[in-house]
Amino acid sequence: ETQGKGIYPHYMLKEIHEQPGVVRNLLAGLLEKTDGHLKINLPERVSRKLHKARRILIIACGTSFHAGLFGKYLLESIGLVSVSVEVASEFRYRHPVVDPERDLAILITQSGETADTLSCLRLLKELGVPQIVLTNVEGSTAVREADDAMFLLAGPELGVASTKAFLAQIVYMMFFALELGLKKPHPEHSNAHIYSILDEFFRIPALMEETLNLSPSIRDLVKPFTHLPSTLFLGRGRDYPLALEGALKLKEISYIHAEGYPSGELKHGPLALVSDSMPVFALVSGSELLPKILGNLKEVHSRSGIIISIAPASLKGALTDVVNHQILLPPVGDFFLPLLSTIVLQFISYHMADLKGFDVDRPRNLAKSVTVE
Ligand code: G6P
Repeated sequence: ETQGKGIYPHYMLKEIHEQPGVVRNLLAGLLEKTDGHLKINLPERVSRKLHKARRILIIACGTSFHAGLFGKYLLESIGLVSVSVEVASEFRYRHPVVDPERDLAILITQSGETADTLSCLRLLKELGVPQIVLTNVEGSTAVREADDAMFLLAGPELGVASTKAFLAQIVYMMFFALELGLKKPHPEHSNAHIYSILDEFFRIPALMEETLNLSPSIRDLVKPFTHLPSTLFLGRGRDYPLALEGALKLKEISYIHAEGYPSGELKHGPLALVSDSMPVFALVSGSELLPKILGNLKEVHSRSGIIISIAPASLKGALTDVVNHQILLPPVGDFFLPLLSTIVLQFISYHMADLKGFDVDRPRNLAKSVTVE
C-alpha cells in the first residue's frame, strides 16, 4: 500500500500520517542504543566532513530551503559552526566566494532532480567544495553526482506539497547539529545534555501520533477562516523557518495569500495589515524568547487581530489573555517542539484547502519536481 492512498482521501493526508513512522525509520538508522549507551550513527565520511567544516553552505529550493534555514539555527547554536543558507537559483548566479579547504556544502533536495540545486552541485564540484546531498530518492541525479549522499527514508512522496520529506530533513538537521555539539565545548549544551536529548528522541514518534489526533479540531478551528484572503504566520528563532514553511504550504494548496514573518519584525511592516479579517498563526515556544513573543502578540491583539497560537500545553495560562484560539501540543522538550508544530501547520493548510474544495495533491501551476531552470 505504499503507492495508494489507503484509507485517506489524499496522498498529502496519508503522508502527514506517515511521519511518526518516518522518524522511527530514521532513528533506527541514525541512533544506536546498546547497554544504555547512545551513539549517533553517521557514515564515517559524512561525520568527518561535518567536523572538518569551518563554514557550512546549505543550498536548496522551496520547502527544502526552509529545512536548511531551520538547520542554520541548530547548527550554529548547538554545533557552533557558521552556516549560510541559500536558495539555489540565487547561489548559482551570484559568483559566490567559497573556500574548498574550509567550506562544506549540504544540498537538500527531496527529489534529487531539482535543476537549480543540481546546477549548484555541479558548480561546487568544479570549485572543489566537498558536498553532501540530503535526498529522498536513492537513484536520483544528485546522488549519482555528489561525493556523498544521505537518505531521508521517507518513502515515496506523491503529494506535490512536501510534508514527510520536510520533517525528515529537519530531523537530519537536528542530528547534524547534535553530532557537532558532542565535540564542542559548550556551556549550555554539555555532552550530558545532548545525550539526554538523544534519549528523548525515542519518545517523539508517539508524541507525533498524539499530535495527529488534533486533525479534526484543527479542521473545525480553521473553517471560519477559509473565505478570508490573507494570513500571517509568525515565529521567532528556529520557529521562524517553520512559519515560512507554514505560509508556503497554505499558499501552495489553498491559494490563500500567506506570509511567514519573524515576530520581531512585525513593527517594521506587517502590523499595518493586521485587522479582524486576517488570521495570525503564531508559533510559540517556552524558550527565553517567550516574553518577547508575548509582547509581539499583544501588539496584534490590541489591533483586533485574530491570533491562533500553536504552543505546548504548558503555555496555556500564559497565552489565555493574548490569543483568540489555542492549538495545544503534547508536553515535549523544547528541542523537539518543531516536530509537533510542523504537523499542526500541515493540517492547517491541508484542511483549509480541502474545505475550499481544491485538489490538495495537485495544486494548480505547480510540479512535484522542477527539472527546468
Ligand atoms: C517544488 C516542489 C516543492 C519542493 C521544491 C524543491 O517546488 O513543489 O514541494 O520543496 O520543488 O524540491 P526538492 O525535490 O529539490 O526538494
